[in-house]
Amino acid sequence: MIDLKTKYLGIELKNPLILGASNLVTNPDVLKRAEDAGAAAIVYKSLFEEQIQLEAAQLDDELEEYNERNAEMVKLFPTIAHAGPEEHLMNVRKAKESVKIPMIASLNAIYTESWIEYAQLLEQTGVDALEFNFFYIPRDTQTDGNEVNKQQLDIIKALKSKVKLPISVKLSPYYANPLNIIAQMDQLGVNGFVLFNRHFQPDIDIEKQAHYAPFNLSNPEDNKLSLRFAGLLYGTISASICSNTGIYSGADVIKMTLAGADCVQMVSTIYKNKVEYIKTILSDIQQWMESKGYAKLEDFRGKLSNKNTRDPFVYKRAQYIDLLLKSDSIMKKYPLH
Ligand SMILES: Cc1cc2nc3c(=O)[nH]c(=O)nc-3n(C[C@H](O)[C@H](O)[C@H](O)COP(=O)(O)O)c2cc1C
Repeated sequence: MIDLKTKYLGIELKNPLILGASNLVTNPDVLKRAEDAGAAAIVYKSLFEEQIQLEAAQLDDELEEYNERNAEMVKLFPTIAHAGPEEHLMNVRKAKESVKIPMIASLNAIYTESWIEYAQLLEQTGVDALEFNFFYIPRDTQTDGNEVNKQQLDIIKALKSKVKLPISVKLSPYYANPLNIIAQMDQLGVNGFVLFNRHFQPDIDIEKQAHYAPFNLSNPEDNKLSLRFAGLLYGTISASICSNTGIYSGADVIKMTLAGADCVQMVSTIYKNKVEYIKTILSDIQQWMESKGYAKLEDFRGKLSNKNTRDPFVYKRAQYIDLLLKSDSIMKKYPLH
């Protein structure tokens, strides 16, 4: 009998498949279908600082400055005009009550006060855990990277002292040394890491010579960075490792587990292959485990991590150099003529 149980943030999950934060989960029908298809947990769509600020502006409409800010916000984010934090909190509560599987609320704030106030309000909706999305985009040459790291660590310290629920942090890979910041956050008591967030980048339309923002879902090739970091982190931190970005299939979940992940979050594959594809992913994992004689995930989790792999070079610079020195073999696949 194959057992797919795992633990994430100290919560027992029936399998490692979590439906990640996206607009999909704001649809009650999707929540039900995801639960029926076997999803082990759901991350509700994030509450964003912009939604919080919009409501603050609407409440204070006597002040000219706020009126302008409100108008600007609505112009910039027309879709949030009807999605203030009050409504969001109500929707999270409803979503939590509509399913039996664990529900995780997600917050993407900017100011420390918003992080704390809304983490506490989300906690009161009855969810099982909180996910904090640290979405930082470098925009200037003056901001010191160490200062950004310090601010994030300070926010975590404050949050840990104010909320009781387990917390996960969803990070981007863009740190000089992601392993170090993760280890520092782990020391502060973060219960899990979602690795990694996928940033949407603007593109340029060369006909119109203008920017546009393509709505781009991930592809399976995008999961290698998550795979590498799951492998590097396994056995080095107390927190759970939840791999994210480009995880499409049962094979991808198996790879992440072999590297050392406790669970995965998926969004793009669910958009592309529909919610019921979760069943296929689960049965593919089971079939593979049967074929390899594994009864539970623990039997192979981290087998190919940095800590356990027998290949001494796989996570090291040597592998990269080796690959580049041998790169002439690419010519065989892509001949010049
Ligand atoms: C339409 C859409 C909406 C998303 N909304 C959120 C969000 O509210 N909060 C968040 O943390 N991530 C959000 N994400 C990012 C996903 O949770 C996930 O991190 C990313 O899509 C990478 O996973 P994937 O490769 O399985 O899609 C969104 C992604 C998509 C495609």
